[in-house]
Formats: sequence, structure tokens, C-alpha cells
Amino acid sequence: MGDGDRTGGGTGPVDDAELLARLRAAPVLAGPLPEFDPGQAPGTPGPLFAQWLDRALADGVPEPGVVTLSTAGADGTPSARVLMLRGIDTSDCAFDFASDSRSPKGLDLAVNPVAALTWYWPAHGRQIRLAGPVSVRGPEDTRRDFLGRSETARAAALVGRVSAPLRDAGEYERAMRVAREQVAAEPERVPATHALYRLRAREAEFWQGNPVPFHLRLRYERDGDGWTRNLLWP
Ligand SMILES: Cc1cc2nc3c(=O)[nH]c(=O)nc-3n(C[C@H](O)[C@H](O)[C@H](O)COP(=O)(O)O)c2cc1C
Repeated sequence: MGDGDRTGGGTGPVDDAELLARLRAAPVLAGPLPEFDPGQAPGTPGPLFAQWLDRALADGVPEPGVVTLSTAGADGTPSARVLMLRGIDTSDCAFDFASDSRSPKGLDLAVNPVAALTWYWPAHGRQIRLAGPVSVRGPEDTRRDFLGRSETARAAALVGRVSAPLRDAGEYERAMRVAREQVAAEPERVPATHALYRLRAREAEFWQGNPVPFHLRLRYERDGDGWTRNLLWP
């Protein structure tokens, strides 16, 4: 590998110190970042989420619906992965995501139905953190979610076995072939293991990168039927 190949190849051995130096040189919160005035923020977090998502979509922030879901199983070991946001109820600050109920995250949620959702939209320097109890949506919502997916996504869900060891690509391709035939033969079929989950936020934090004078943090906590709101030290 010549010196000129060091950046961008991604296949050869790379020196840790050199990687770290390049990482430190990479810009963070480079902006221009949007304005955020916590004093003007709505009294409940759902509408603020809607405002921030609306702005992210309008400005072409990449993949704003991709969110990190954190769960923990019975022994408390945390586990996080990204997935797609599948439903929004800003009036109740509740958010839906879908997965196979037998996946590791599904098993975590079965024994410990509480989770966190975290978005980071780098182009806006915005982080949103939600945490709260998770419930399973009813059969009609689940069905609508599943049948609203592409045939490939539905076949992949029928294959299941999420996160089990895979011997080789051929094993998966064979299972997908069978699943595609099942989808074609029974287009209305919804696998019993497809789960649509709803996280109802108990707390919500909005973080706005604002290097000067300081990063802004606004935290909401559910308080009976309403919400309390506080600024946090950055
Ligand atoms: C952009 C993106 C979107 C994803 N969307 C989903 C999703 O909506 N549901 C899902 O179960 N997994 C989704 N995944 C895969 C998960 O990140 C994860 O690999 C998989 O669900 C297994 O997680 P688990 O072993 O923790 O259960 C997505 C991955 C990426 C990178």
C-alpha cells in the first residue's frame, strides 16, 4: 500500500495512531447549525420532536428516521442497534418501531419492557434522547405495518432467525427463495413473530450543538398528565 492509498481504501491494515489522528482532524458540529431557543420551545416534547424532524426532512438531513434503540435483558446487559422509526404520535410523545419478537431485542423487551431511542442528526448538531416503557401494538396496527412493507422486506421477515449464526450466503438465499414464494402465494400473511412496538416517552431530552457560548439541553419529564421542563448543564 503506497502512502497515497492510506485514505479511503478501507481494505488494508491501518495504523491505530494514524487513524486516531485523522479522526481528531475530522470536523464535528461544523455547522452552520440551526437556531434553538429553549425559551420558545413547546410545553410538551412531542411537538418539539415534530419541529426538529420537520426541519431535518426539509434540510435533507440524511436518514432522519434511523434511530438507535437501546434495550437491556434480564441480567441488565445493555444492547443497542439502529432501526427504522415506523410510527409517530407526537400528541403522546410515543414512537413505534418494528422487529422480530424472537430477535435479541425482542427477547430483551419481553423480559424488560423499557427502552431508549436516540437520534443524532449531525448536519443539525441535534441529538434527541427518549426513554420509557415499551408495549406491543395490537394486531391491526401490526398488520398494517407489515403489509405496508416491500415484498423483499416481508420475505426477510418470514425468514426470521434474526441474529442466529449464518453458515454461508447460500443458506440465506435458499431461505429467501422459499419465503418469496410464500409471500407470492399468501400476500396477506403476517408472521406471528412480527412485532410492532411502541415506546411511550417518560423522559425526553433535546440537545442542540451550539459551541458558543454553550451546548443547549432541554429535558422534559412526564409529571402526571403533563410534563415538566428543565434546562440542563451542558
Ligand atoms: C439503517 C438500518 C435500519 C434497520 N432497521 C431495522 C428495523 O426497522 N427493524 C429491525 O429489527 N432491525 C433493523 N435493522 C437491523 C438492526 O440494526 C439489527 O442488526 C437487527 O435487528 C438485530 O438486532 P438484535 O440482534 O439486537 O435484535 C436496521 C439496520 C440498519 C443499519
